[in-house]
Amino acid sequence: MADLTTTFLGITSPNPFWLASAPPTDKEYNVRRAFEAGWGGVVWKTLGSEGPPIVNVNGPRYGVVYGADRRVLGINNIELITDRDLYTNLEEITRVKKDYPDRAMIVSLMVPCEEEAWKAILPLVEETGADGIELNFGCPHGMAERGMGSAVGQVPEYITMVTAWCKQYYSKPVIVKLTPNITDIRNPARAAFKGNADAVSLINTINSITSVNLDAMSPEPMIDGKGTHGGYCGPAVKPIAMNMVAEIARDPETRGKPISGIGGVTTWRDAAEFMALGAGNVQVCTAAMTYGFRIVQEMISGLSDWMDQKGYQRTSDFIGKAVPNVTDWQYLNLNYVAKAKIDQDACIKCGRCYAACEDTSHQAISMSADRVFTVMDDECVACNLCVDVCPVQDCITMVPMQPGQVDPRTGKVVQKEYANWTTHPNNPGAVAAE
Ligand SMILES: Cc1cc2nc3c(=O)[nH]c(=O)nc-3n(C[C@H](O)[C@H](O)[C@H](O)COP(=O)(O)O)c2cc1C
Ligand code: SF4
Ligand code: SF4
Repeated sequence: MADLTTTFLGITSPNPFWLASAPPTDKEYNVRRAFEAGWGGVVWKTLGSEGPPIVNVNGPRYGVVYGADRRVLGINNIELITDRDLYTNLEEITRVKKDYPDRAMIVSLMVPCEEEAWKAILPLVEETGADGIELNFGCPHGMAERGMGSAVGQVPEYITMVTAWCKQYYSKPVIVKLTPNITDIRNPARAAFKGNADAVSLINTINSITSVNLDAMSPEPMIDGKGTHGGYCGPAVKPIAMNMVAEIARDPETRGKPISGIGGVTTWRDAAEFMALGAGNVQVCTAAMTYGFRIVQEMISGLSDWMDQKGYQRTSDFIGKAVPNVTDWQYLNLNYVAKAKIDQDACIKCGRCYAACEDTSHQAISMSADRVFTVMDDECVACNLCVDVCPVQDCITMVPMQPGQVDPRTGKVVQKEYANWTTHPNNPGAVAAE
């Protein structure tokens, strides 16, 4: 059976599933039950400096985007960092780590962007026996206006500076959690490693307004008639997060550096995808908030079964395996030609493929009087839209043409050789092929 044990920055956990810093990791009561349910590690809800605790709103703090079946696709929140006393948190962290030495315990931190503030809190965290820290440079609301969170994460120089302080005043691994509210994620990642970060984790939440109450004319969640932007997370953000993870994993300046993948992980497959793109482990928040701690059991059994099927004995066997296949558009093979093919036995004659192709693609599907839908190869550009809108899985497939065959759309023979845009005759800047 596959071994899910994962070592990230020298921290070993029984599986790669960690809970992200958020309500599920807010207190001892939660974290103990999370560990009992099987989570491999946690990043404790972000701690702030000593002093009067943070104050949250006393009304709704979440907005939600649902799918048609009321499945939660995305959650937006206006919660701040922990609103519990610093020392209570530190005592709880110490106790829990002592009782669960085999689980990863990371402490998330967000204090003012001043050396003294970091110098003050880091020894206190060191004393807890936790395995490392995560710097919350991502929170996009509430704390950013106070010069913390994403206000730091959006300025690479600050990231380097604070990370370097942490490496100076703390002896264990330092993970820098990045904000996605930035144009090019490679810049903050490079800045973190410049400050000697041991790893980056991403993504934190995305700036968002999830809905507007059209009676009150206010964004939701609504507090006494007013709303504010919040941080968006859950399955809807996974594509954005995976692209950012891949960008860092293939950037020549940061390639091979440890990454903890976060954003919409709900199933074992989501986790495997993040890890294939270079994440050494994953962190989860929304899925636990939506389905409870026990969802980790499905992640564990699913990942284990898949690894057995594929012959992967340990997670390191597939971590990063998809990275070499992430490329830029200009390097895609323009000699690759495919055509859509409809399985008439599986087709339920709904006509969605026809409507989509006829109205918004290449008018490549014909409909007969008795509703038989057929792809016309001489029009099909293989855009895949019909596959995407067909309600029957695998009813439409994309079939590659073989070298030597003539593409009836272009009249050209399909070539065996790989050729991309950089050498294409239509490219004014083309480099002549040798
Ligand atoms: C209610 C809520 C509170 C959060 N609080 C924190 C926090 O205190 N510190 C932090 O680094 N991230 C915080 N996050 C962000 C999560 O750790 C995580 O980065 C984000 O939710 C994406 O993961 P997901 O799609 O699995 O939810 C919070 C998220 C939610 C939903
Ligand atoms: S792949 Fe695109 S062009 Fe071809 S039949 Fe489907 S929708 Fe039409
Ligand atoms: S969308 Fe799929 S099921 Fe519907 S008509 Fe087209 S091929 Fe058939």
